[in-house]
Amino acid sequence: MDRRKTSRRDFLGLGVAAMAASACGGCSLLGSRKPDAVVPEEAGVLRLGEADSSALLGSQTSLLVTAKDGNEKILVVHRDDGSLFAVSSACTHRGCDVGYDKKLGHLRCPCHGSQYGLGGDNIKGPAKKPLKRYSVTTDNGRVVITL
Ligand code: FES
Repeated sequence: MDRRKTSRRDFLGLGVAAMAASACGGCSLLGSRKPDAVVPEEAGVLRLGEADSSALLGSQTSLLVTAKDGNEKILVVHRDDGSLFAVSSACTHRGCDVGYDKKLGHLRCPCHGSQYGLGGDNIKGPAKKPLKRYSVTTDNGRVVITL
């Protein structure tokens, strides 16, 4: 086998892989997060467990939740003033999971920098559509999301 040809082929292969990774720029596979909590849905409602509710209402500022049989992830944010917000975590640009940026005070996508208000409204692109918002309340110390 010609050692020089193999090296060149390997080099070209690495170049193509690097270009593909660069073009992706942090697409959904890289920006996808595993949910913090998987919750059974009951009549269109997700009721977080005691431990997750306690953590979220305590010192934890956000939780990524999904219904046991669902594929949509919901980001629930608890602010210091006690307010709760719940939105679909899928960025409307290319689907990466957005996160709560406490320093900014709103949601930010790690892939291409889109920003959203806590109600899902667009603040900064490239995403142009808002995130879906969900109703979220508390009931006897448990966080309840209505789908
Ligand atoms: S996936 Fe591109 S900004 Fe969110």
